[in-house]
Amino acid sequence: MQKLLAAGLFMLCFAIGYSQPTFHVGDFGAIGDGHTDDSQAFLKAWKQLCEAGGTGRPTLEIPASTTFLLKPTLFRGEAGGTGRPTLEIPASTFLLKPTLFQHPILLANGMALQIAGYASVMLMVSSLKDLEQSMAEAVHFHNCNNLQITGISLVNSPKSHISINQCTGVSISRIQINSPCDSPNTDGIDISSSTNLDIQHSIIKTGDDCIAVNTGSSFINITGVACGPGHGISVGSLGEDGADDRVEEVHVRDCNFSRTQNGARIKTFRGGSGYARKISFEQITLIDSKNPIIIDQHYTNDGKRESSSAVKVSDVTYSGVQGTSAEEQAITLNCSDEIGCFNIKMKKIKISSSVPGKKTHAYCNNAHGTSTLTTPKCPLPTQT
Ligand SMILES: *[C@@H]1O[C@H](CO)[C@@H](O)[C@H](O)[C@H]1NC(C)=O
Ligand SMILES: *[C@@H]1O[C@H](CO)[C@@H](O)[C@H](O)[C@H]1NC(C)=O
Ligand SMILES: *[C@@H]1O[C@H](CO)[C@@H](O)[C@H](O)[C@H]1NC(C)=O
Repeated sequence: MQKLLAAGLFMLCFAIGYSQPTFHVGDFGAIGDGHTDDSQAFLKAWKQLCEAGGTGRPTLEIPASTTFLLKPTLFRGEAGGTGRPTLEIPASTFLLKPTLFQHPILLANGMALQIAGYASVMLMVSSLKDLEQSMAEAVHFHNCNNLQITGISLVNSPKSHISINQCTGVSISRIQINSPCDSPNTDGIDISSSTNLDIQHSIIKTGDDCIAVNTGSSFINITGVACGPGHGISVGSLGEDGADDRVEEVHVRDCNFSRTQNGARIKTFRGGSGYARKISFEQITLIDSKNPIIIDQHYTNDGKRESSSAVKVSDVTYSGVQGTSAEEQAITLNCSDEIGCFNIKMKKIKISSSVPGKKTHAYCNNAHGTSTLTTPKCPLPTQT
């Protein structure tokens, strides 16, 4: 495996042609019986695809109703190529064999790439229990620009299902993620140092954040996502170990949280710096979720309580948030005494208890802004 990864590392793709040929993975030796390791065949096909890159759309066709076994594989492109190779994956299954440290699939320096799946499944084959210590995200995109992913399902990743790092221009739609609610660290989609992402119409069931937006990320639209079980859609954690972390322009709309640990969450560590700003959660439906709306500005690992700095949280809008909360404290804006949160806007919010007869309440501490038509009431004094 080490060798294979090394081979992948030294493989470079050169965009040369302008043609738009179609390749078939079977021609490169893929067997697709679910037992034979097809990684090398996919790598060879990928190389051809890259070499045909140019400005066109060469396509790698993967046969339907076939099961491929892939060991951890690095698919490396040449960043900046203008062509957009396409992987066409109609209803095939990929059995991915994760290891402790290697990403089952790593796409790095990808030129623009389109992954067009039609009910295709990527299934991790080692049992979750074996993989609890795994450091590897199932499908990791690093430095991939102009990336489009549709119609795939990811099942039982040992860690994040999809992680996106240092990418610009990513569109994800109609994907499904499915892991048990008690599987640790299995974020659905993890975003870091990336900009211009559009995530739409997807279903995410997992044991950690459905989507996590981490430092260096901006201009992220998340629309029409059904989350749950899971830990909600989160900005952060930011500012861990005193880090200067920055996230802005994150817009979540038309999403549902069903029996989630959190809904709309912003989480920053005490002692950090930077900002989380220009964030909106609009038209959100909650079903029996804990912490439907939560900002925690002084999240802490023990021992850092004395620090007075914090990541600035500002320009956050919650609008049209309704449904039921599993906890009586339905809104938590726990902003730090020293810094506080500013320009928080709440409007048209109605969160009732999922227990009939119980009332919900809000904890709104050091948060400033405006609050209208909001139940439970969350007073947001304007800045003095
Ligand atoms: C996000 O949504 C806004 C408003 O609809 C739109 O102007 C912007 O282009 C979208 N950004 C991305 C990356 O899709
Ligand atoms: C959210 O729930 C509503 C009501 O059940 C439904 O109409 C809508 O399609 C759901 N949206 C998503 C993104 O699942
Ligand atoms: C707010 O945060 C502080 C500091 O972490 C914590 O002690 C407190 O319990 C939190 N309050 C609520 C209501 O969540």
